[in-house]
Amino acid sequence: MKPFIVSIAVVLGMGFVGSAMSADMPEIAKKLGCNACHSIEKKIVGPAWQAVADKYKGVAGAADKLNAKIAKGGSGVWGATPMPPQIRASDADRKELVTFILGLAK
Ligand code: HEC
Repeated sequence: MKPFIVSIAVVLGMGFVGSAMSADMPEIAKKLGCNACHSIEKKIVGPAWQAVADKYKGVAGAADKLNAKIAKGGSGVWGATPMPPQIRASDADRKELVTFILGLAK
């Protein structure tokens, strides 16, 4: 019974912890160093991920656009400061991160 409850908690946690509690950066974001420039709720060098989620809420193709942006880097959406290409993030990493970020939308 217990392992079952734990696995449910893990699955739900991926989607809901972020919005239910004051969200922490996912491990993968720390591993890849996204947290050097981003946090969930405050602008650092890059925009707060909460703000990113709110901006793209309901926007068609947002996930693909953000995935490509993380891979290639770029500027001009949030200001003049560019995001460097995140070459250490694999396609799977980027998908996971984009799903997390867009999932923060309220
Ligand atoms: C060196 C600083 C830096 C790092 C490291 C960084 N970013 Fe960024 N990020 C930025 C900046 C600056 C912007 C704003 C770019 C713009 O205005 O177009 C940004 C924008 C974004 C956006 C919004 C893009 C858009 O077009 O609206 C997402 C999503 C994002 N970053 C995700 C990530 C992820 C995921 C990682 C880690 C794999 C990461 N960033 C690492 C600086 C950084």
